[in-house]
Amino acid sequence: MAKIDDDDIGRNTSDNETFEQVVEARLSRRGFLGGTVGTMAAASLSGVGALLQAVPASASGVHRPLLGFTGIPVSSLDTVVVPEGYTAEVLIAWGDPVSKGPAFEPDASNSAAEQARQWGMHNDGLVYFPIHGSRHGLLVQNNEYTDDVLLFPDGTANWNDEKTRKSQAAHGVSVIEITRHSGRRHDRDEWGTWRRWGHKGGEWRVVRPSPYARRITGMTPIRIGGPAAGDPRLRTSADPTGKLVRGTINNCAMGFTPWGTYLACEENFNGYFRKEGTQTELERRYGITAAGAGYLWHTTDSRFNANLEPNEPNRFGWVVEIDPFDPRSRPVKRTALGRMKHEGAWVQEARDGRLVVYMGDDEQFEYIYRYVSNLPWRRAWRRGINPLDDGVLYAAKFHPDGNGQWLALTPDSPGLAGWSINDILINTRGAADAVGATKMDRPEWIDTFPETLTAIGTLTNNSRRGTTGNPPTDAANPRSPNPYGHIIKWFYRHDFTEPTFGWDLFALCGDPATAAHGSTIIGDKYGSPDGIYVAPSGRLWIQTDVSGSTINSGAYAGFGNNQMLCADPNTGETRRFLVGPNVCEVTGAFVTPDERTMFVGIQHPGEAPSGANDPANPKRYSSWPDGDEGGRPRSSVIVITKDDGGEIGS
Ligand code: FEO
Ligand code: CA
Ligand code: CA
Repeated sequence: MAKIDDDDIGRNTSDNETFEQVVEARLSRRGFLGGTVGTMAAASLSGVGALLQAVPASASGVHRPLLGFTGIPVSSLDTVVVPEGYTAEVLIAWGDPVSKGPAFEPDASNSAAEQARQWGMHNDGLVYFPIHGSRHGLLVQNNEYTDDVLLFPDGTANWNDEKTRKSQAAHGVSVIEITRHSGRRHDRDEWGTWRRWGHKGGEWRVVRPSPYARRITGMTPIRIGGPAAGDPRLRTSADPTGKLVRGTINNCAMGFTPWGTYLACEENFNGYFRKEGTQTELERRYGITAAGAGYLWHTTDSRFNANLEPNEPNRFGWVVEIDPFDPRSRPVKRTALGRMKHEGAWVQEARDGRLVVYMGDDEQFEYIYRYVSNLPWRRAWRRGINPLDDGVLYAAKFHPDGNGQWLALTPDSPGLAGWSINDILINTRGAADAVGATKMDRPEWIDTFPETLTAIGTLTNNSRRGTTGNPPTDAANPRSPNPYGHIIKWFYRHDFTEPTFGWDLFALCGDPATAAHGSTIIGDKYGSPDGIYVAPSGRLWIQTDVSGSTINSGAYAGFGNNQMLCADPNTGETRRFLVGPNVCEVTGAFVTPDERTMFVGIQHPGEAPSGANDPANPKRYSSWPDGDEGGRPRSSVIVITKDDGGEIGS
């Protein structure tokens, strides 16, 4: 039985801080006032949000050409390809120390304790938090899942508690401090020694040691907050309070708040649990099964045996708030945002000051959600309320006439008579079923164009749409089946908080040169859109996650490896900007405030296209990024700069 050790419990009591303490401390810690771009000149509190979620130029009425690069062809090379005039370099890879810590062992022989001080495996959504504008900040990234064959020298053979611990340690979230050298002056190297840097245009590196560096893993104590905290369904033998859980797992995409915290979102948490025998309705709805997803944690950690700890799965599937600037702070699972296979949680400040959070539940025929805080977020903080603890959750209904509405998930909503608020938050999927939300083709990332009151989200694909026994097509999910996915946008008249919206399709994906695909892409072909990110300029970045089993074959023959494209949202024109190495997924994108650096995640290069990898031949499918010198492929973050110092994509 896993016990929560009091010695591991952090000392931060941020709930008790006042709004002013929280925000002022963060502002001064981060040097927002002195170190950022011109948009921060009037650095009010709203300026923090403006910096992080800057206004697209497309909304200003002045439209400048957004795409200045020449699109690149598809690629099946085991490397990262970017357009001429750009440089992509690896910043950090799985197993590298986040601070001054143990080096990665190429044969994967690092221990669980060492892994807990190293960059986790299979990085996904990421955020750059400025300390000094575009030259120095924190990079926070989810480590979504592990390939347990590549995680150990002998793969999953002889599974034991140490292996469970290492796999858990490779999950979670990683925080590193990074800085960019000017190339024109002396600065410290990673060991603190002054030296002269000669790299033209500057070079990003990880600061080691760093007081900010942190790993949050599958074992880190995390508080459960919000309305469902302490609910009997969240209590276990290790935690009879229902308010303290060990770990966060399968964090896919992310979000960030105007007060400078990071949101990590628990997606396919169900796959780590095993349940023999008859499922409860809740287990059925969330996929807690006898087979799981192949993880073996349950064999040594009874928390993941749902027959022994039936409530443990209820403590996962949440959005986790993390303060990256306080490495001792305890993360908090924010239950008001509902429980689902959370892809991400994208925050938009409404014009009336309330907080709007958009979330996808990534599974076939699941829903798009919106959360709206009850109070303007500054006022909530003044009253000692975290705006993520006090609000209303909605599920989206897309009508065929191009209008839509947000269906409230509250006990007084039609269809939810007899449901308590905790019933709704713990079984959010069931509540959305009851109100009749629209079943979508796997909702993944969402982002916003603040000035045009528009949100845009990816629907990655749905092989079962319209097949026997499954829902037929509808206006918002118009293809059956849907191997290529699509991108949908919705918009408001006055504010992001309105109960109704208009919607349209941004693109039906596939090859626009092949009529049978039914693609509406204007430009380069792609499919299975997953990551989507609106840069401050308004450039729309799209990342793909074609499954390894279909990369460059079948419906995806000729599409090459997974890729990242840039689109002009005004014209729809789309150009291929990056292609990743073999059997990777491109996921995670974020630019510095000056948009002259972009951080991109390359996840699971060399994953076995189907089935498991072979521990005797870990480089069978890819040897990126270490090549012949390396022992196995590694998920990594890359840094993209333009050789002339310009904006990425210009
Ligand atoms: Fe982890 Fe929905 O992608
Ligand atoms: Ca994803
Ligand atoms: Ca995906």
